[in-house]
Amino acid sequence: MRRPFIAGNWKMNLNRAEAVALAEGLKQAAAAVDYADIAVCPSFVYIDAVAQALKGSNVGVGAQDCYFEGNGAFTGEVSVEMLKDIGCTYVILGHSERRHIIGESSELTNKKLKAVLAAGLIPILCIGEMLEQREAGATDDVNAEQFFGSLAGLTSDDMKKVVIAYEPVWAIGTGKVATPEQAQEVHAKVRQLIEFRFGKDVADAVRIQYGGSMKPGNAAELLAQADIDGGLIGGAALKVDSFMGIIEAAKTTEL
Ligand code: PGA
Repeated sequence: MRRPFIAGNWKMNLNRAEAVALAEGLKQAAAAVDYADIAVCPSFVYIDAVAQALKGSNVGVGAQDCYFEGNGAFTGEVSVEMLKDIGCTYVILGHSERRHIIGESSELTNKKLKAVLAAGLIPILCIGEMLEQREAGATDDVNAEQFFGSLAGLTSDDMKKVVIAYEPVWAIGTGKVATPEQAQEVHAKVRQLIEFRFGKDVADAVRIQYGGSMKPGNAAELLAQADIDGGLIGGAALKVDSFMGIIEAAKTTEL
C-alpha cells in the first residue's frame, strides 16, 4: 500500500525566528511518527535555517518552486542545484497560486518538473480546477490538461517518483473543504489518467495528496478515501498542533 505523505506548504508566511521555532517544534512532536512521510516547504529564504533545525529528524524539507535552468544568468531565480545544496528533498510545482496569480503554464511547470527529477529530487505536482470551471462541468478537462501538460515527456520510471497534489482552487485557504466523496471522485480519475498514460504499476504506486482547507477535524475522513494518500497543507501547517493533528489522522486510516 502507498505510504501516507503529509506535506506543509508554508507559502509566503512566517519570519525567520517563527520558521525555525515551528521546525523545532515539529521535530520534537513528530519524532515517533513512523507510519507517514512528513515534509515542510518554507519560503526560499528560510529553507536553509529550517533544514538545519530539522537535521536528524524524520521531517523532510521542500521548496515551493524552482527554476528549470542550471546555475547561470537568471536574475531572481533559484536553481534546483541550489535547493539540493541546502537540503531540499521535495519541490512543489504548479501550485494554483503560481498558475493563477503568477501566470505559470503547464508547459513551464513541465520544464521545472523535469529539472527536479534530473537532480534526483521529488516533485509535488499540483493540479486543480477553479470554482467556475467546476460549475461549468470542466473539472475533469482542467485536471487532465494540467496532468498531461505538466507531465509531458516523462517515462514511467520518472513518474514513479512524482507526487501529485489535487487541490481544488475553490477549497484553498477558503475553509470550504471538498467533501471526501468529491475529493475521492477526482483522485480516482487522476489515478485512471496515470494508468492510461504510465500503466497500472505506476498508477498503484503514485501518491496523490489532497490539498484545500485540510484540518485536523476533516483529515481522517479525507485520508480514509481509497485514492487519497496524504495531504498538502497550507494554513493548518503553520502551527505544530494542527499539523500534528493531520499527521496523526493519517495513522488511523488504511491508505
Ligand atoms: P490550505 O492550502 O490548506 O490553506 O487550503 C493548501 C495549499 O494551497 O497547498
